[in-house]
Amino acid sequence: MQYCFMSHGCDAPVLLDDTTNFIGEKTDSANNNSLTGFDVVDTTKSQVENVCPVVGPSWPLLLGRRDSTTANLSVANSDLPSPALNLSGLISAFSNKGFTAQELVVLSGSHKIGEAKCRVIRQRIYHDANIDPSYATSLKSNCPSNGGDDNLAPLDVTTPTYFDNAYYTTLLSKKGLLHSDQLLFNGGSTDFQVGAYSSDSASFLTDFANAMVKMGNLSPLTGTSGQIRENCRKVN
Ligand code: HEM
Repeated sequence: MQYCFMSHGCDAPVLLDDTTNFIGEKTDSANNNSLTGFDVVDTTKSQVENVCPVVGPSWPLLLGRRDSTTANLSVANSDLPSPALNLSGLISAFSNKGFTAQELVVLSGSHKIGEAKCRVIRQRIYHDANIDPSYATSLKSNCPSNGGDDNLAPLDVTTPTYFDNAYYTTLLSKKGLLHSDQLLFNGGSTDFQVGAYSSDSASFLTDFANAMVKMGNLSPLTGTSGQIRENCRKVN
């Protein structure tokens, strides 16, 4: 998401290190000490047609994507949704990029895999009312009220390395890890969509793949715009 959601679009500004000309996006409040994997991206990615290799849905990646020659911390700060937003804030953040509330729900299903830092979930596990009490207790053992800020918890309590629609089932039982996850099933307008995806794996996987293709089409640089970076971290 961080690769596409800023106003630049899908041109990988987040990979650039700070320079004398700009402060990059790695220190954005949502990315700092959080987003990782900067060193493993294949520099030929923009030219190679590929299919997502992990277990789960797959979708074709379009050809000819090029890399930005700049990055912008203030844009990153304003465009990436915070996990502390309320539901209408999340819906607006996605709407600003042309995504429906249904697409917010389906793309959030990405939180079936991966981890979150203690500092990101502390407010939720100590103060939110809409969290299963035993789940909150189990999380507190590795996320004390003070310290341990970088300790990790799996985004999904069931099978955090397997991609399926179980994310939505966990929301039904108030076991969403992020505040923003649980808001998708909290008595509001997106409840019905969470319920639908929890019981219909096929439509979740199809809608997820389509929404990923749509996200990948957020203002990519093509033709002679931008460049193909020789080193992902630096402009050529
Ligand atoms: C609804 C808006 C979203 C919010 C508020 C949000 C927020 C977050 C936060 C706070 C984390 C944990 C970061 C950390 O503690 O290090 C995270 C992790 C993650 N997010 Fe999101 N996210 C959103 C939507 C998305 C979307 C649309 C995708 C992709 C389609 C996505 C993919 C991921 C992945 C894969 C991780 C795990 C990263 C890892 O384990 O290294 N997120 N997200």
